[in-house]
Amino acid sequence: MSFIRNAWYVACWSSQVTADAMFPRRLLDEPVVFYRKKNGDVAALQDRCPHRFIPLSLGKIKNDAVECAYHGLQFDCSGKCVKNPHGDGKIPAAAKVRSYPVAEKHGMIWIWMGEREHDVSLIPDYSALDKESGYLTSTGGYIHIKSNYELMAENLLDLSHITYLHDGLLGSPEQVGADQVVKEVGNSIHCNRWMPNISVPGIFDMLFRRDGKPVDMWTNMEWIPPSCFRLDSGVQAPGGARADHGWYYGIHILTPETATTTHYHFAAAMPSGTRLTSEESAKFAEMRRYAFLEQDTPILNAQQAALGNANFWDMKPVLLTIDAGPVKMRRALERLLKEDQA
Ligand code: FES
Ligand SMILES: [Fe+2]
Repeated sequence: MSFIRNAWYVACWSSQVTADAMFPRRLLDEPVVFYRKKNGDVAALQDRCPHRFIPLSLGKIKNDAVECAYHGLQFDCSGKCVKNPHGDGKIPAAAKVRSYPVAEKHGMIWIWMGEREHDVSLIPDYSALDKESGYLTSTGGYIHIKSNYELMAENLLDLSHITYLHDGLLGSPEQVGADQVVKEVGNSIHCNRWMPNISVPGIFDMLFRRDGKPVDMWTNMEWIPPSCFRLDSGVQAPGGARADHGWYYGIHILTPETATTTHYHFAAAMPSGTRLTSEESAKFAEMRRYAFLEQDTPILNAQQAALGNANFWDMKPVLLTIDAGPVKMRRALERLLKEDQA
């Protein structure tokens, strides 16, 4: 499988790359190692020594360079070999590894793995996660999904599944009749669902009125290619207006690990008017983690297992009205992949 390479992907949460430790992770089917230089900046190198191919992440960090655990070649943060401890110490021209542009933004480490010039301003705006935003945040969510990122992306863009898979927690039965609007804005796709006068799902009852009474609910999901999502989701009194609580921004970010596995990062940002104690905030985070890990993940893993290596379209999937967004997204990904490879 080919991936769009000239794009920013989330490699991990910033907190996962600590001083004096190497953090290996396979991204777009390439081994990458992350570490921090003395000044705190993050470096990212191909995690494979060009001598006998062992992961550099098994080695040591020495003065902002990485020393291979096997025979001691050292590579600086640009990937250049800076020390050969053997023989006359000459450094063969081929002794180098790829280094990748990285940026730290919104509490995450972003990586650019394509050959074209990178532009930090293209990183999607998740500033609701920044301290200065004043939002109450829950961050650091991570799940390893054993499915292709496109299958997981469909799960996020089309939230019609919350009625069934997350019933009582994030969804409720009357949502099935939601009014769904799909629109394309530039390269983004918005999939907005409006569900008036429905029974209130558990997580929103906790955020809003805690009386179990009916609400109007919305889930407005935006896909930012290739694999970032922003959700505005919440409830209000039927026929009323959005209050300063009862809603949150859901942050969902996918990074392909391999053709059949995905790194899933998630977080949430609630407005400052949200009335949760710290225990309730922890419960809110736990409810979401439970939904994603115990409800979505088994479905995604089973979906990939059922598909095996078959091509999605060759399997002739049945198409329903709820697939308008996902199908547009798949078409956009095909187009963007062609442009990326042109
Ligand atoms: S394998 Fe890295 S120096 Fe030999
Ligand atoms: Fe879900």
